[in-house]
Amino acid sequence: MLPFQPISIPFLLIFISLFLLSTDAIRSVPETPSKVYDVNDIDTKRYIEAPEYRNGDQCEVLNLIHVAMTLDVNYLRGSVAAVHSILKHTSCPENVYFHFIASQSKSPEPESLTGIIKSIFPSLGFKVYCFDDGVVKHLISNSIREALEDPLNYARIYLGDMLHPSVTRVIYLDSDIIVVDDIQKLWSVPLTGLTRPLKSSEPARSTAIGAPVYCHANFTKYFTSNFWSNVSMSSVFDNKKPCYFNTGVMVMDLVKWRDNDFRSRIENWMEIQKMHRIYELGSLPPFLLVFGGDVTEIDHRWNQHGLGGNNRVHSCRSLHPGPISLLHWSGKGKPWVRLDAGDPCPVDELWLPYDLYRHPTQQLR
Ligand SMILES: *[C@@H]1O[C@H](CO)[C@@H](O)[C@H](O)[C@H]1NC(C)=O
Ligand SMILES: *[C@@H]1O[C@H](CO)[C@@H](O)[C@H](O)[C@H]1NC(C)=O
Repeated sequence: MLPFQPISIPFLLIFISLFLLSTDAIRSVPETPSKVYDVNDIDTKRYIEAPEYRNGDQCEVLNLIHVAMTLDVNYLRGSVAAVHSILKHTSCPENVYFHFIASQSKSPEPESLTGIIKSIFPSLGFKVYCFDDGVVKHLISNSIREALEDPLNYARIYLGDMLHPSVTRVIYLDSDIIVVDDIQKLWSVPLTGLTRPLKSSEPARSTAIGAPVYCHANFTKYFTSNFWSNVSMSSVFDNKKPCYFNTGVMVMDLVKWRDNDFRSRIENWMEIQKMHRIYELGSLPPFLLVFGGDVTEIDHRWNQHGLGGNNRVHSCRSLHPGPISLLHWSGKGKPWVRLDAGDPCPVDELWLPYDLYRHPTQQLR
């Protein structure tokens, strides 16, 4: 049995359970939730309903685009803006199906989140999945930023298990992004290219993931000397040309993912991390260990990352030159926080048109 439960449990099962089991037996309720939010606390009344986006005539109804994101009270506003931006810019908005992963141990519950999303996007195709933090919690070691230790950050590792086997490809997106281009273009990227040149003896290979890669970044610094000095570990990169990539935007071939059991491979590195401290960051390094050198390179326009600035309280970044399809506020600062505080960075104004939350201060803007 998988440790995940989609929240749409067949009705009959619920019906029988009511008679046979206490509710505690069907739902494990955490004893001490770290933070208790009432649905009213996020003030859903402050969200306005998104405009209705309809398919153009050229859209084939069965061509679904699957997008996975996490859903969490602290990032809800970002997720809502991200969804809004995707619908607004795609030519076939009704063909985009969203897989939202919510933490079982946090409030609001996945059921409530479903209601919130429905009220904002009444005709959206989506499903909220219940992520059991317990499956990954024991694997997470301390990292330099507390936010990186949130189990929900690791949910992307479990997409192959959570999503139905008929879903063979998914675009994973962080919640602090907006898409300003047709997501169909990202969806149809072939995952056939390696970032290193093929040796003549080597057959062309396809990869399980595609992402913008950054080979000028100093790859050494993502791992500690414990890692580089231990040949049995560092040999993982032998005959590879690993480059940094950001795991906030990935196209994933779920068939390859499942066939190669990449979930276990990532978990294995997390086990090693617990014993040997081989990196400082959170969910990124195990991805680099498993996929470094085996990522299909996607155009940089699909991840203008770092717009959140660095760990300093207010550090603004400007856009890199070149065309942009996706903006990503990775880093400590989030546009909605800076806007609410009345102290936005220039790039935050690009996020604002997709915001569907009406903060009290906005009436003054
Ligand atoms: C990359 O980073 C490592 C460790 O921080 C450093 O020793 C090395 O000199 C750097 N390499 C380059 C090319 O900057
Ligand atoms: C080197 O790494 C392996 C795991 O791949 C570990 O079993 C071994 O203890 C490490 N050696 C040292 C000296 O840390």
